[in-house]
Amino acid sequence: MTEAKNLWGGRFTGVADAGFVEFNRSFGFDRRLFAAEVRASGAHCEGLLGAGVLSRDEATAITNALQKILAQAESDEKYFEGPAEDVHSFVEARLIELIGDTGRKLHTGRSRNDQVATDLRIWLRDELDVFSAALLSIQRALLDLAEAQRDVIIPGYTHLQRAQPVLLAHWCLAYFEMFGRDRERISDVRKRVNVMPLGSAALAGTSYAIDREAVARELGFAALSRNSLDAVSDRDFCVEFAAAAALIMVHLSRLAEDIIIYSTTEFGFFELSDAVATGSSLMPQKKNPDSMELVRGKAGRVFGHTVSLLAMLKGLPLAYNKDMQEDKEAVFDTADTVTSCLRVSTTVLRNLRVNEERTGAASAAGYMNATELADYLVRKGVTFREAHETVGRVVLRGLELGVELQELSLEDLQAFSSSIEEDVYEALSIESTLATKSQLGGTSRGQVREALMAARASMETGP
Ligand code: ARG
Repeated sequence: MTEAKNLWGGRFTGVADAGFVEFNRSFGFDRRLFAAEVRASGAHCEGLLGAGVLSRDEATAITNALQKILAQAESDEKYFEGPAEDVHSFVEARLIELIGDTGRKLHTGRSRNDQVATDLRIWLRDELDVFSAALLSIQRALLDLAEAQRDVIIPGYTHLQRAQPVLLAHWCLAYFEMFGRDRERISDVRKRVNVMPLGSAALAGTSYAIDREAVARELGFAALSRNSLDAVSDRDFCVEFAAAAALIMVHLSRLAEDIIIYSTTEFGFFELSDAVATGSSLMPQKKNPDSMELVRGKAGRVFGHTVSLLAMLKGLPLAYNKDMQEDKEAVFDTADTVTSCLRVSTTVLRNLRVNEERTGAASAAGYMNATELADYLVRKGVTFREAHETVGRVVLRGLELGVELQELSLEDLQAFSSSIEEDVYEALSIESTLATKSQLGGTSRGQVREALMAARASMETGP
């Protein structure tokens, strides 16, 4: 396979420095745009036919050759080896190899500047659909876990201190909400990705009577870019993609952290399946949550890509600049990282063992019904501030005696407030602690059941 010559032949008399040629190449990574490049080339060919630039025979020859190029790429592992500069010059060179001068006509009225923007958008569109599907899968896994463990109560935390008991299903639904927002964001980003720059040529627009609407239809784009200068230099969609991906990673890393600490011996709420944990080469007793640690760790890469894209774009003069070649690795790695993290996290959730003994014991201890006692006093006519103060002193007494609130005798309790009666024990029970949280969004059993049903329903209709 030979590369005929540089795409910019005539103007140059000198020879390029070998080190620079290598430095300038992007084929090592932009070959991932190969299928998109072939597809966009086919649509451009149709556009040129419609504009009268290509004859029907020429267009057919090009279309057939593009098919052949696709087929060869699939069957020949070594097809991409060779000195191509980038995916655009690669496909053009193969075309010229196959059909000679007719192949040399395909670049009429287009530029690598509108090609690369078009290819990247076609590629990203598919990745966004992969994200949406992976987000749906993790949401399903969360709902399945919530339903399978619908009776389980865990301590809810603030500052990582025991605060108030919540249903494990409520915890699952919290992450369900986060991934739901991610799905909305992804479908919103997709709207701005799905705009076609092709026809903008290098920067000023194409000089040929190409029916851009028809080309866009062929490529499945919902709209046309309206300004050629903007279209070839806009990478906002890459930044938006990376930023939406960064938030997915924030959510995944918080989930990872919860799972990691809940799986420690100290907490003991969860046990990770052997399928997604590792042992230690030295300490035989260990079971390490590597899967979740990697997810937590990889969040940083995606944040980094978001920032590097912003920094790459900042201050670029209109229109295209070669700096923009740096967008691809950031976008590709973002896509790969998020997809693999979503998949592994889904596997972790699907194989999580819940230790009900530990969650039950932890939820019953640590004065998590203290707020409930204050609310009880409020119901008896005490102001909340006074109730709060009183209960604080009751907790202190419990700590002195080494007992929970419900283990204090009625006499003991009444010493702190004459409003306390026998029915206090009912109010202090864990079930009534849950039951009082019965407003929309709360963790009462009824609310959580409703929320689960609404969540299931939203999966059928959502974005
Ligand atoms: N490899 C280039 C990129 O990724 C393609 C566009 C090149 N355009 C140019 N005028 N050199 O951005």
